[in-house]
Amino acid sequence: MSMLYLDNAATTPVRPEVLEAMMPYLTRWYGNPSSHHTVGEAAADALGEARARVARVLGLRAGDIVFTSGGTEANNLAIKGIAIAAALRRADGAPRRADAAHAHGGTHIVTTPIEHESVLESVAYLERVHGFAATRVPVDADARVSAEAVARSLRDDTVLVSIGYANNEVGTVQDAAAIAAALRERRVPLHLDAVQAAGWLPLSAAELGYDAISLAGHKLGAPKGTGVLGIRGRVPLEPLLHGGGQERGRRSGTEDVAGAIGFATALELAEAERVEASARVGTIRDRFIARVLEHVPSARLTGDPVHRLAGTASFTFAGTSGEAVLLELERRGVVSSSGSACAAGSDEPSHVLLAMGIAPGVAQTAVRFTFPRWLNAPLDAVADAVEASVAAVSAPRR
Ligand SMILES: Cc1ncc(COP(=O)(O)O)c(C=O)c1O
Repeated sequence: MSMLYLDNAATTPVRPEVLEAMMPYLTRWYGNPSSHHTVGEAAADALGEARARVARVLGLRAGDIVFTSGGTEANNLAIKGIAIAAALRRADGAPRRADAAHAHGGTHIVTTPIEHESVLESVAYLERVHGFAATRVPVDADARVSAEAVARSLRDDTVLVSIGYANNEVGTVQDAAAIAAALRERRVPLHLDAVQAAGWLPLSAAELGYDAISLAGHKLGAPKGTGVLGIRGRVPLEPLLHGGGQERGRRSGTEDVAGAIGFATALELAEAERVEASARVGTIRDRFIARVLEHVPSARLTGDPVHRLAGTASFTFAGTSGEAVLLELERRGVVSSSGSACAAGSDEPSHVLLAMGIAPGVAQTAVRFTFPRWLNAPLDAVADAVEASVAAVSAPRR
């Protein structure tokens, strides 16, 4: 078997269409969008076009789109930016815009224990440095969080709820629309980390009811270093990067024009293909999961069997070591991962699996397969490689 890359939740290759769309803005229209001459104006036009195209996919206004360096920055900006703006309003004594929705002050944040580190660490920073309190709403054994539990966690001083739309380690999808509906009456803004959801799930702001959404280009066939925070204009946001006031003062620094074009192109392609790709890949995923569960006695599926990303199959193989299984798989031509690429190299069991109630010793046997959107053939040979790899590293039966 030649090499098969099944770690697409970690990152994806740049799509040829994306690279082609970017090239003119790297070499020919290379201006600084803030420059007041024709070279700069051409770049500003391109940036504006990219912004409008991203906004169209999300169902937001062009002015709601902030280009960032990726998912980590988008999450940091959403969480710290919204929270610090709200804390400042409280320090002022009165809401700055009493008429505006989502403008009450306070220092309480709600999230879950299964979020990506860029969310968890941003929240921890607010607790440590800015005196915030945080509630981490527990998830069930399938990594689902209930909208009712989120609603129950709200306080009068809650200024933000940040939830991962789809989990990067186990692929569980949350009912974002139900969570948004539960928050609406309380006028608490919802931030969705949609980094893993993009390309698989609907992103429409009208459908989902979020106030802010994080996306990363490199999970979608755009280059690393590109990302977006979509944030409704009514939500006050304190910037993290101060300087020339680009991105309407929300993110200073000369914009990555080619990156913005690449991001817009990748997002449009992924959205156009989304419904068909999810159905096609979901069918392949289900057959793969069934085959692994049938052929590997120690295999347990992690995450929700139904509410899960079409491109994610994740397991534990009790009695093995996840790292050893990965090495065996790679020898057989299958590249996969133990979960989050960010946690790779660490021996700590995954915080996601622990929060789902999986024992630390079992959590250390996790292996995650994340599929490309173009996948179009059954993965029986990969399931066979899993069977052989697990057998190779399992303690011999007595
Ligand atoms: C759910 C989720 N959020 C955020 C990120 C961070 O995105 P980036 O790698 O673009 O910083 C990732 C990356 O793995 C992720 O899976």
